[in-house]
Amino acid sequence: MKTIVSGIQPSGTLTLGNYLGAIKNFVTMQNEASDDDNIFIFIADLHALTVPQDPAALRKNVRSLAALYLACGLDPNKSTLFIQSEVTEHAEIGYLLQTITYIGELERMTQYKDKMQKQVAGVSSALLTYPVLMAGDILLYNADYVPVGEDQRQHLELTRNLAERFNSRFSDTFTVPKPLIAKVGAKIMSLQDPTKKMSKSDALEKASIFILDQENVIRKKIASAVTDSDGSIKFDPVNKPGISNLLSIYSCASNTSIEELVEKYKDSGYGEFKKDVADAVVNLLKPIQEKYNYYLNSKELDEILDNGRDKASYFARKTLSKMKRKMGIIRKK
Ligand code: AMP
Ligand code: TRP
Repeated sequence: MKTIVSGIQPSGTLTLGNYLGAIKNFVTMQNEASDDDNIFIFIADLHALTVPQDPAALRKNVRSLAALYLACGLDPNKSTLFIQSEVTEHAEIGYLLQTITYIGELERMTQYKDKMQKQVAGVSSALLTYPVLMAGDILLYNADYVPVGEDQRQHLELTRNLAERFNSRFSDTFTVPKPLIAKVGAKIMSLQDPTKKMSKSDALEKASIFILDQENVIRKKIASAVTDSDGSIKFDPVNKPGISNLLSIYSCASNTSIEELVEKYKDSGYGEFKKDVADAVVNLLKPIQEKYNYYLNSKELDEILDNGRDKASYFARKTLSKMKRKMGIIRKK
């Protein structure tokens, strides 16, 4: 029996990076899981609030992400799907874990340093404490494995440290989780600057492919992806970051190894290669988009989220009360 936990922030339209780096792996793990495994996949709305959000847009994005999870193949009979803020234990464990987290550890987080610089108005204290909330998300369910993209590795390391620290200070309580980061696809790069990760919040629209982009838009974005003038199709992220990124995308989208692709295109030009990358991405996303529209307007959606909330709450309550007891937050022993 194993437990798997992961989440995504509903902070805008999801990118191909989110799909290949995260959701695709959630679905694979779900489909390979045995009946007694527990899989919790949630919508990290509390995390989205670490930077300013328009309330109406946030509401919409939460629903949209729920529909997208289903459209991508998450099955509510196998995975518990829920909205983070509806299981209030998340906020509570986040606070309790802050009491054993050092400010210095948080100030060292590279994602914090990046995001802080991008904030025009004030930087919220929640942006600093965000990795502690994330640790809480994971420890509440005693996760064994956490499938994420490369950018979350440092947050997982902190989570492991906090679990070990709590266990040694208050006696064994939490499972120390392991990150699961795919070999290919864990860091899909921007199409316009392939040294930067593809991100939902990139100001340049054509830098990212969104899961819900229309076919002609996807084709245009891939055709105008930045490459190099060398002319050969090789996997070399340092010297050929653009072509290497397209190879990673193609490999994940078509479930073909990079080696096979390099062999197949050894005599081809960039134009032909890009066209085939675009075909693979369109074929991957089209069925997801069709299912998305179905789920977004379906009645099942709320029912699935209600059931998910109830199931997640049951586990979260148990862990939280154990944790509080150990910390002395209990009236009678
Ligand atoms: P976020 O959009 O920050 O909530 O990220 C949700 C999940 O997608 C996390 O597991 C990230 O590591 C993953 N992810 C985000 N951007 C990328 C990317 N460009 N390539 C691969 N994985 C990504
Ligand atoms: N912080 C993650 C991100 O931005 C999302 C997230 C929140 C998460 N809580 C989590 C991922 C717990 C895995 C497990 O990508």
